[in-house]
Amino acid sequence: MKCAVCRGPAVIDLRRHNANFCADHFLKFCRDQVVRAIDEHDMIEPGERVLVAVSGGKDSLALWDILLELGYDAEGMTIGLGIGDYSTASTEAAVAFAARRGRRLGRIDLRGDYDYDIPTAAAVTRRVPCSSCGLSKRHLIDRAALDGGYDVVATGHNLDDEAAVLFGNVLHWHTEYLGRQRPVLAERIGRAGSGSERRVFPRKVKPLIRLAERETAAYCVLRGIDYIVEECPMAEGNRHLRYKEALNAVEAASPGAKQAFYFGFLDNAASRFAPDADGADGELRACGRCGSPTTGDLCAFCRLVDRAAGHDPVPVELVRPRRGGAKHRRARS
Ligand code: AMP
Ligand code: FES
Ligand code: ZN
Ligand code: ZN
Repeated sequence: MKCAVCRGPAVIDLRRHNANFCADHFLKFCRDQVVRAIDEHDMIEPGERVLVAVSGGKDSLALWDILLELGYDAEGMTIGLGIGDYSTASTEAAVAFAARRGRRLGRIDLRGDYDYDIPTAAAVTRRVPCSSCGLSKRHLIDRAALDGGYDVVATGHNLDDEAAVLFGNVLHWHTEYLGRQRPVLAERIGRAGSGSERRVFPRKVKPLIRLAERETAAYCVLRGIDYIVEECPMAEGNRHLRYKEALNAVEAASPGAKQAFYFGFLDNAASRFAPDADGADGELRACGRCGSPTTGDLCAFCRLVDRAAGHDPVPVELVRPRRGGAKHRRARS
């Protein structure tokens, strides 16, 4: 197996690109794919301050590393979700990377800062853990970006993630979500009550959409980045994992099918669903407690904190979904 660029010994084969690469050219390939995604979708302008949402997994650490290698002013933030050993190890991986690169990592701990954690929130709300988890992450990441004066938030969603979400959204024809499923969500300016206009949502970008999961994992291994290998124990039985498995089966038989599906959607269909997403939020006003934009009196995050805070922690095992799919309410994509 020879590198497609230098003909040296290859360390990885990328069937969907019909190419093999040596370590150096594979790392360059990863950086090039990120540059291309950023350019094609106008994700980040030179000189902008980037906040990378870091889970401690392969994707967000690879993303942070690549953005730094490309010269971006990128700092990190991580949220301790309180999911037992998994969260402890995730935070440790993020902290170790930040220390190694000498970069700032903002830290929020749900239990320490808000007196709840994801297992407890799942038990109290009787919804799948990913529901309160996604809501908490969205809110706190947006807040951290606005408060910290960052121009843009970057997340580690990769090609497999986006193709699986797309698959689910198409399977159920969630047209509103299809209208929102873009690699860049523009910032939004709004008015908080009678106050002056300000940014109420930061721009959010997904620079890894051109890289598959296997590639971000290989990137970390070749760069010597320690990441948390385990998947979230609460996501077991999650629909997205099943969609990923289904798409992997298709990809194995037809390499390139996954990217054709997702990029084809972006090129040919995404804009057709934009009207379904526009205006779906209704009129926004400021949350009575935290000032975040919401359609009601209190935002969904503050309502979650009201319900979930102050309870004793619930062991992860008690709320972990059973394999094979228990009866779950639908989680937002
Ligand atoms: P997930 O929703 O777990 O698939 O993660 C998608 C992206 O959200 C990751 O690539 C990160 O950029 C971000 N993210 C996930 N978990 C955390 C966390 N605990 N703290 C900060 N960002 C996170
Ligand atoms: Fe959110 Fe597992 S990471 S529920
Ligand atoms: Zn090479
Ligand atoms: Zn609020």
